[in-house]
Amino acid sequence: MTQHSSAPATDTAPAIRTDATGEPTGWWREAVIYQVYPRSFADGNGDGMGDLPGIRARLPYLADLGVDAVWLSPFYASPQADAGYDVADYRAIDPMFGDLHDADALIRDAHELGLRVIVDVVPNHSSDRHEWFQRALREGPGSPLRDRYHFRPGRGRNGEEPPNDWESIFGGPAWTRTKNPDGTPGEWYLHLFAPEQPDFNWENEAVRDEFRSVLRFWLDMGVDGFRIDVAHGLVKAPGLPDMGRTEQLKLLGNQALPFFDQDGVHEIYRSWRRILDEYPGERIGVAEAWTPSPERTALYLRPDELHQAFNFHYLDTGWNAEALRAVIDESLDSMRPVGAPTTWVLSNHDVVRHRTRLGGGLGRARAASLLMLALPGSAYVYQGEELGLPEVTDLPDEVRQDPSFFRDNGQDGLRDGCRVPIPWTSTGPSYGFGSGGSWLPQPEEWAKLSVEEQTGDPTSTLEMYRSALAVRREHPALGAGDAVEWLDDFPAGVLAFRRRAADGSGRDFVCTVNTTGTPVELPTVPGRVLLASGEYDGGALPADTTVWWEA
Ligand code: BGC
Repeated sequence: MTQHSSAPATDTAPAIRTDATGEPTGWWREAVIYQVYPRSFADGNGDGMGDLPGIRARLPYLADLGVDAVWLSPFYASPQADAGYDVADYRAIDPMFGDLHDADALIRDAHELGLRVIVDVVPNHSSDRHEWFQRALREGPGSPLRDRYHFRPGRGRNGEEPPNDWESIFGGPAWTRTKNPDGTPGEWYLHLFAPEQPDFNWENEAVRDEFRSVLRFWLDMGVDGFRIDVAHGLVKAPGLPDMGRTEQLKLLGNQALPFFDQDGVHEIYRSWRRILDEYPGERIGVAEAWTPSPERTALYLRPDELHQAFNFHYLDTGWNAEALRAVIDESLDSMRPVGAPTTWVLSNHDVVRHRTRLGGGLGRARAASLLMLALPGSAYVYQGEELGLPEVTDLPDEVRQDPSFFRDNGQDGLRDGCRVPIPWTSTGPSYGFGSGGSWLPQPEEWAKLSVEEQTGDPTSTLEMYRSALAVRREHPALGAGDAVEWLDDFPAGVLAFRRRAADGSGRDFVCTVNTTGTPVELPTVPGRVLLASGEYDGGALPADTTVWWEA
């Protein structure tokens, strides 16, 4: 890897910005955003771990796939206690991924290919190796530097009980006791995730200032936006009151809790929005916010706050026509008052891949993908879903790295199975992921699912995604908007909706989804077939199949 001593010049302005008239394009309202998990996308130096040069070399693949933007999970300097979501330096690249020059080159190349770049920012917690936390530990109780985190004396006679009853999302108490500089048992600190991820205290002005500066650093580098990790967690209820119950909290859960979705977070995002708006080219903020309802999520998307939020309520919905229709309506209805686009997501690096999760194999996964891509708003695609990759469910315990796997009751501890490096070729070490091995073993069957194997095969999942994204770009009824018209004369178990052409061309679009296990006769032929998720001969709609029509 090339070593450089200084950060690159910060004069980058993305090549892609406003339209010819200089008016905002609202590009993000209908964008397809592809999530790259840097550890597992492409390995440029053959050490078995993905890296920025690897990603850069594969950008043409993403441009060709037809996505609008790439979101990169964290690549910052990190001890990797939570695969990079434990950041030790927010302005440096971890050497295992490259350096700032690699990041600069990646952003420039992406822009030249017409791809926008969104990076993760992790403001709820840092790594315990972060300089601020280390200094706070060293300086001991009473130091103002401890106020940047949540340090508290313990309860009980000798402070041997945690300060409150909060549970870590990864299992076990959300507090760890420190040692005083003289070696005696000391205060406790809060970590909603692993003990190596101490939570920042967002009541402290230095924390607020630091993150505004971090945002500017990356905006100056040319990024087009931020995916905000645990966006709902920054502000805690005053006094850190007990939750009043003990239960294992779920990643992506939607309970009301004293440390999530507190009203105070919104003022932070208003200040971030002002920074984003100072930069040209519609830079965006995307909230990873797990809230009790779509209405609560919408609050993050008021016109002076963030642009998008992940729709975990959709991701959480099973393969059931009624439930899907309900969550689609609820999602669209809740975004309308704030004027934000709805987003759709089926897979990411924290959940079981949808091919496996939805329980119906590749056919159902493909049908679900075409449904998602037909809905109004923006869609998130997780690397490898365009190849139809399943979850890897039989990883041996000794290769696992997910911290929750190693914590008490870590019921979410199976996230390694969706993080296995993706196959690019049908042969060769690590199936083209790199010239060496791969940090998690890849199943042999993945040879047949490789990019090489699927490219040019019209029946492949990769070509289905490519076609879907091409239709989505070209078709006047697809992309942005907030309306679907349900077609009610279809049998139970079939979701059918129309979207009206936005350009007055009359080229409407109809999507029909058979969620049942048997073929279903359509009451009427909706129009001309544009794309089908499975074999379709024009008759009954096969089981677990989505068909797109021009109507
Ligand atoms: C990320 C997870 C991470 C957690 C803590 C999230 O929700 O997506 O991968 O473990 O935040 O940072």
